[in-house]
Amino acid sequence: MKVMETDRLIIRWLSIDDASFILRLLNDPSWLRFIGDKGVGTLEDARNYILTGPMDMYSRLGFGLYLTELKEEKMPIGICGLIKRDSLEDVDIGFAFLSKFQSKGYAYEAAVATLGYGINQLGLKRIVAITSKDNHDSSRLLEKIGMAYDRNIILPGETEELKLFTSKSK
Ligand SMILES: CC(C)(COP(=O)(O)OP(=O)(O)OC[C@H]1O[C@@H](n2cnc3c(N)ncnc32)[C@H](O)[C@@H]1OP(=O)(O)O)[C@@H](O)C(=O)NCCC(=O)NCCS
Repeated sequence: MKVMETDRLIIRWLSIDDASFILRLLNDPSWLRFIGDKGVGTLEDARNYILTGPMDMYSRLGFGLYLTELKEEKMPIGICGLIKRDSLEDVDIGFAFLSKFQSKGYAYEAAVATLGYGINQLGLKRIVAITSKDNHDSSRLLEKIGMAYDRNIILPGETEELKLFTSKSK
């Protein structure tokens, strides 16, 4: 299902047919460095990740992490979307693109649309984001879409201190 369209991108629901792309993305060096190893090493793992992550969230909440693809080529290049975690009170925005498609403005285009969708279509009053302290590209992108650094937090059961950003409207 298509959720959003921008100048260059289609943002749509993930399905298990996207498993080979997810396998590639979750093993991209930048994903492994800044998000971590999710243990997705096979197509079967990738299908399970899609089913128990994004697809489960669409059915429970009506939103989740979406696939971002180039409009013209219909080629998947990243994911961007909204996530409700048990460990955070507010919904957070997340994104990740294959290294090859970074620094081309695609992440910005997808993130602006996703933030607007959360606020205007889903009616969320506040959206947050979490990122590793050394993930400067992610922090810069969050600031560029109008979010502001709030404080450092440690999620329950974790040890790494993360930066928490919030959308400014409350
Ligand atoms: C975080 C991440 C999504 C940021 O994406 P990105 O590719 O750097 O973002 P963009 O391409 O939108 O912006 C990067 C730069 O490209 C520039 N750019 C290049 N071509 C552009 C174009 N045609 N249009 C607009 N901007 C363009 C932007 O101006 C921007 O520069 P700036 O930051 O100096 O302003 C990406 O680094 C990533 O996927 N990382 C791995 C996963 C990850 O860390 N996710 C976040 C977890 S919290």
